[in-house]
Amino acid sequence: MQDTSLAHQHTNAARTSPAATAPRYDLYQGIHKALRRLYADTLVRLGQADPDDSQAMAQVLGQVRTLCDICEVHYADEDRFMHPALEQAQPGCTAAITAEHEVHRDTLESVRELTAVVEASHGTTRSQALNRLYQTLAVLMAEDLIHMRVEDQDFNAVLWRHYDDAALQALEGELVATIPPAIMMATLPWMIGALNAPERSAFLAGARQGMPPAVFEAVITIARRELPEGEWNKLAAALYLPPN
Ligand SMILES: [Fe+2]
Repeated sequence: MQDTSLAHQHTNAARTSPAATAPRYDLYQGIHKALRRLYADTLVRLGQADPDDSQAMAQVLGQVRTLCDICEVHYADEDRFMHPALEQAQPGCTAAITAEHEVHRDTLESVRELTAVVEASHGTTRSQALNRLYQTLAVLMAEDLIHMRVEDQDFNAVLWRHYDDAALQALEGELVATIPPAIMMATLPWMIGALNAPERSAFLAGARQGMPPAVFEAVITIARRELPEGEWNKLAAALYLPPN
């Protein structure tokens, strides 16, 4: 006898719905995971850093500057490449997010200024500036976490309605080609470590197709350095790399 209860139907729907829709290419997922990891790690390290330990200070302030450089390029890339494609699909849809990028740039500028103040100061002045830097970075992270959620959810919905995956990958290729090599090499460790194993394998398999072998070797060296043993072994198996 057929079970027609709602509970049964719900269970069946939950079981079958993921397979019913093929996953679409997500332009935002990798870089946004990288940024979330970078924001979170930097904020925690900044909160822990001893203002009287010059080595610890230099290390964490260097990471804050890396964060600023990566974020600045990311906001600009979205404005330059993603927003025209989105506007073409749905005019007006990027206005609020473009305005938020301006707010983020202002906050980023404050982060840079406070970083310089912390670096140049000592004693109580440094402790107070360090706390202001920590608080300001926390605000930037909070604002960007919500902002990225809108891009992940609403912008992907627009892109997936109007473009096929080949068009999205071509757009990504144009964007990636403009990223300065130093920014790319600074971002990759954060991205490789932020992704889960299947995402990481897919990302690096795709990267392998689009770069010379020597550059891919450099990327794999980063992965070997960044990943815990178990995660590295999964990647090596997925990409048919020698395990060590
Ligand atoms: Fe954005």
